[in-house]
Amino acid sequence: MARACGLGLLLALLLPMVSASMPGTVVRLNKAVLSSVSEIGKAPLQRALQVTVPYFLDQSGEGLQPTRIQILNVRVSRLDLKFIADLGVHLLAAANFTFKVFRIPEPLELRLPVVLQADARVAQGSIGTPVVSISTCFSLFDNAIAFDGSNSSTPALLVPLQQHINAVLRNKLCLSVSSLVQGLNVHLGTLIGLTPVGPESQIRYSMVSVPSITDDYISLGLNAVLFLLGKPIVLPVDVTPFTLPQHVGIDGAMATVGLSQDLFDSALLLLQKAGALNLDITGQLNSDDNPLNTSVLGRLIPEVARQFPQPMPVVLKVRLGAKPVATLRANNATLQLQPVVEVLAPTSNSAFQSLFSLDVVVNLSLQLSVSKVKLQGTTSVLGAIQLSVASSNVGFIDTDQLHALMGTVFEKPLLDHLNALLGMGIALPNVVNLHYITPEVFVYEGYVVISSGLFYQR
Ligand SMILES: *[C@@H]1O[C@H](CO)[C@@H](O)[C@H](O)[C@H]1NC(C)=O
Ligand SMILES: *[C@@H]1O[C@H](CO)[C@@H](O)[C@H](O)[C@H]1NC(C)=O
Ligand SMILES: *[C@@H]1O[C@H](CO)[C@@H](O)[C@H](O)[C@H]1NC(C)=O
Ligand SMILES: *[C@@H]1O[C@H](CO)[C@@H](O)[C@H](O)[C@H]1NC(C)=O
Ligand SMILES: *[C@@H]1O[C@H](CO)[C@@H](O)[C@H](O)[C@H]1NC(C)=O
Repeated sequence: MARACGLGLLLALLLPMVSASMPGTVVRLNKAVLSSVSEIGKAPLQRALQVTVPYFLDQSGEGLQPTRIQILNVRVSRLDLKFIADLGVHLLAAANFTFKVFRIPEPLELRLPVVLQADARVAQGSIGTPVVSISTCFSLFDNAIAFDGSNSSTPALLVPLQQHINAVLRNKLCLSVSSLVQGLNVHLGTLIGLTPVGPESQIRYSMVSVPSITDDYISLGLNAVLFLLGKPIVLPVDVTPFTLPQHVGIDGAMATVGLSQDLFDSALLLLQKAGALNLDITGQLNSDDNPLNTSVLGRLIPEVARQFPQPMPVVLKVRLGAKPVATLRANNATLQLQPVVEVLAPTSNSAFQSLFSLDVVVNLSLQLSVSKVKLQGTTSVLGAIQLSVASSNVGFIDTDQLHALMGTVFEKPLLDHLNALLGMGIALPNVVNLHYITPEVFVYEGYVVISSGLFYQR
């Protein structure tokens, strides 16, 4: 019994490692992200630094005089962020604090220049989110300057007053930065949210390793899990670990996102398992959409003509039994589908009978693009569609003759269906309110890279 429990525990410990071998995605955030964050971050930092200051006991007059102090304004004039290799991000902020000291008989205004420095460690949280924590933090205070125009700035008051303010701020500013970072963590946590991919299917990204941090970038190794009806889609083969080479995509882009071949395979497996790639092409008599009817088929297949003296509409059932295969080569993404197409015609009792079925091979060229936070695809047929007869209830079929006919009937509805599906797209790694802007997609041997700006929508 104890042994069984031990085994269970061992399995539980091993599970994260199993998921670590799932489809690889790498998000590399380059220096440009930090400049953007420092622009966005000034206002929230300014608000966070607006702390409360306890009363000051003024001993300069007669006896102890409790004096109220209020921060009127904090102006962060400079916020610099830079990567610290193997740790995270260094923050340097320069700010001017304006205080109002409610001294009797007349209030006094003080300006205090402060420089705040902090190191923020970026790590992998237990549930696969990035977690930022402040590892060191301190502030440096310049001399306070009184600027009320009066003669009140007596050193007797100023020196202890500044000591009081410094002591308070030294603690509170770092606490404020820490709580700002906690808020950031909540936001970063939305990375692991489930995003719908299609009906009853979702994708979730989560961090699978400690981030790799250099002076130039932070790189997050993510795993993407696709779910169908709540169950993860697991590729039948072992997934190779994915690493994103240096110098891919556009140098200097804010984000470089690498998507492994395995991610494409998983997405296609999901579409196939969900039956999303299947379609029925239903003919109507006297229609331009589907010129296929038993009288046309009867000209090629005598047995059809014999069985259907009256013209009947024909239905094509397109079924993908096997996963489509995506091939990623330098500047060239292709997709191969191998559907089985069953050709049916109505019988007298309004049921359908199978005339024959075909094994079809279609090669498609795949164009990838990014919209907001989604990777989308469009396809077009490459070369000729390949047909062979899988089974026939109508005797011999000359596939050469059938070819031209099937091509026209089958190709357009298939492409329309596929493009509508791939046009819905699959979510890329993101957090709430963050969009990819001016993204460009690059196809490499075995993986795809997206170079993009990032835009935070407040
Ligand atoms: C603080 O204000 C003074 C006077 O306006 C200015 O010279 C100084 O650059 C400011 N410092 C910061 C850090 O904003
Ligand atoms: C400041 O103090 C000087 C001398 O102590 C005095 O002459 C002057 O009027 C004072 N100015 C104000 C604005 O109180
Ligand atoms: C059968 O299809 C052919 C080719 O499109 C068309 O010319 C013919 O009118 C169709 N027959 C019927 C009965 O719809
Ligand atoms: C991509 O590769 C396929 C063969 O694998 C080829 O037919 C096609 O022309 C190529 N496309 C481009 C844009 O090079
Ligand atoms: C599809 O592509 C594969 C691999 O590039 C090639 O071997 C095959 O002949 C192509 N088939 C068709 C029908 O174009």
